[in-house]
Amino acid sequence: MRIGIIGAGHIGGTLARHFARIGHEVAIANSRGPETLQDLVAEIGGPVHAATAREAAAFGDLIVVSIPFGRYRELPVDELRGKVVVDTCNYYPSRDGHFADLDDDATTSSEKLQQFTGADVVKAFNAIYSENLRDRARPPDQPGQPERLAIPISGDDDGAKGVVANLVRDIGFDPVDAGTLAQGGRKHQPGSSVYTAEVSADEAVTLLRAA
Ligand SMILES: NC(=O)c1ccc[n+]([C@@H]2O[C@H](COP(=O)([O-])OP(=O)(O)OC[C@H]3O[C@@H](n4cnc5c(N)ncnc54)[C@H](OP(=O)(O)O)[C@@H]3O)[C@@H](O)[C@H]2O)c1
Repeated sequence: MRIGIIGAGHIGGTLARHFARIGHEVAIANSRGPETLQDLVAEIGGPVHAATAREAAAFGDLIVVSIPFGRYRELPVDELRGKVVVDTCNYYPSRDGHFADLDDDATTSSEKLQQFTGADVVKAFNAIYSENLRDRARPPDQPGQPERLAIPISGDDDGAKGVVANLVRDIGFDPVDAGTLAQGGRKHQPGSSVYTAEVSADEAVTLLRAA
């Protein structure tokens, strides 16, 4: 698959490594320009190239958005519209500035991203520490491996959610469907019990049901 990644930090950079490792073609972007990503791309090796955010969005069949949430209005909407977008972002007012409709829980950051971009947004990889995402991938079906960590995902389009679930599984984690963006997304955003918890799929299901 062709994957665009917008945001080349702890999460975006780590996902680029995982996706390249299993053979996906990756275009990765940050806010400062492709020339600042040459070291990262060289270090990862494989089918990864640096791009602008607009180029990464146009390149991907699926796009990962992994930036500080407060900057989401800088995203290239024309290139994202109608595509599957994986949203790893979390809302932290101390970093992102205040959004009144998030502070009073009228909506969620992922719904705002979906509304702004017109993409099929799937919230995923937002509830796992980048160190765990980097270090705790486990090969599928390999006997004797410690239990794989769960990645809660949520979204309004079942097809998009299925694509993202397969990707999560392929890189070595267990996807757990939390529901729609509005209901499910709230169950794995900051402050929820499963957020950054190091749990198996069964444990995640229990936490999500109780939420
Ligand atoms: N760190 C974690 O453990 C963790 C876990 C789960 C979820 N998250 C969430 O995932 C998101 C990314 O977190 P992170 O820790 O990976 O952040 P990070 O290490 O600070 O990296 C952020 C990246 O976003 C890029 N960026 C910022 N604005 C951009 C724009 N308008 N267009 C393109 N790229 C832009 C930055 O590029 P420049 O450097 O060029 O500005 C940088 O590459 C955040 O919303 C965070 O809350 C983080």
